[in-house]
Amino acid sequence: MSYSAALAGKAVLVTGAAGCIGAWVVKQLRDLGAIPVVFDIAENRERLHLIMPDADTVIWELGDITDFGRLLEVAEMHNTEAIIHLAALQVPFCKADPVGSTRINVMGSIHMLELARQRGITRLSYASSVAAPAMGDNNWLATLYGAHKICGEQMAAVYWQDWGVPSIGIRPAIIYGPGRDQGMSAAPTIALMAAEVGEAYTIPFTGDVGFVYVEDAAERFIAAASRSFEGAHVFDLNGTPATVTEMLALLNDHYPDAAIGATGDPMPFPAEGNSGALEQLIGLPDCRPLDAGIADTVAGFQAAKARGVDLAGMYQHTLGKTP
Ligand SMILES: NC(=O)c1ccc[n+]([C@@H]2O[C@H](COP(=O)([O-])OP(=O)(O)OC[C@H]3O[C@@H](n4cnc5c(N)ncnc54)[C@H](O)[C@@H]3O)[C@@H](O)[C@H]2O)c1
Repeated sequence: MSYSAALAGKAVLVTGAAGCIGAWVVKQLRDLGAIPVVFDIAENRERLHLIMPDADTVIWELGDITDFGRLLEVAEMHNTEAIIHLAALQVPFCKADPVGSTRINVMGSIHMLELARQRGITRLSYASSVAAPAMGDNNWLATLYGAHKICGEQMAAVYWQDWGVPSIGIRPAIIYGPGRDQGMSAAPTIALMAAEVGEAYTIPFTGDVGFVYVEDAAERFIAAASRSFEGAHVFDLNGTPATVTEMLALLNDHYPDAAIGATGDPMPFPAEGNSGALEQLIGLPDCRPLDAGIADTVAGFQAAKARGVDLAGMYQHTLGKTP
């Protein structure tokens, strides 16, 4: 059975679904006939409105993943049969709030595993990050966020070992595409948005980047939660490696007059080719190439504008999001 057929008609709990990847997960779940149940601390449908016309009708449960009672209540209320756990604070937000972010990223993650254990849910995917392998014995950047993600992976391994709760953790590299508007690596998408609204913008890093188009990432989280896979798996999702210079050349193909540049140090995270191991397990083709992802981003922004989304206003708001 295809992954889409496996989830049709089923309620899927999506934590952090007001976020960038989460919005795309919600859209795709809807498109394939599943019932996404958003669980987010914010009632903010801005990213969903950016990418889909019917965002107002999505089931939305306000809640904090550090509140296990609320998670249990929502899972019971909607009889959720799968979990896609995306809620987290990213690198700069962890640095700005070390204790609070640990509560969300670590306690929140164990709550999702415990929810699966108590409810007998065996379809579970969750977001780790390229910042996790960066924590190893290497020259990449160690971050509190990466430590949280490593901890999440290890807790998932113990939940499989001790209680037979299966899971798939996915470590995306740099997500780009409509809705990517905050965090250390959001700048390539912000640059595309700036070009679309006619503003100047400078990407604050250079060098190699593992570009992962957001829709490809969402599809992988969904396929990984579509059935129970024995074990506690963790996969890198490297996407398409390219330099920021190459990315800017592709941007210029769409916006020849854009005032967009890049400066600064290289991104301190690995940028390697996709191994294909995740795709082999869940049965998907490889991620789309960067030129296609950039064309899709541009088309996404233009479609949103055509639906009446205030992209220029959204761009101004985006600039203040990351500490
Ligand atoms: N964006 C990337 O490049 C990238 C790369 C690697 C991994 N990831 C991981 O993928 C996941 C999704 O990333 P994203 O870019 O969509 O994130 P995002 O920052 O756009 O969204 C995160 C969402 O989590 C919600 N949230 C925060 N704290 C919460 C809490 N206590 N309870 C409930 N909801 C809460 C926020 O309101 C937000 O909607 C995260 O786990 C992130 O660490 C992202």
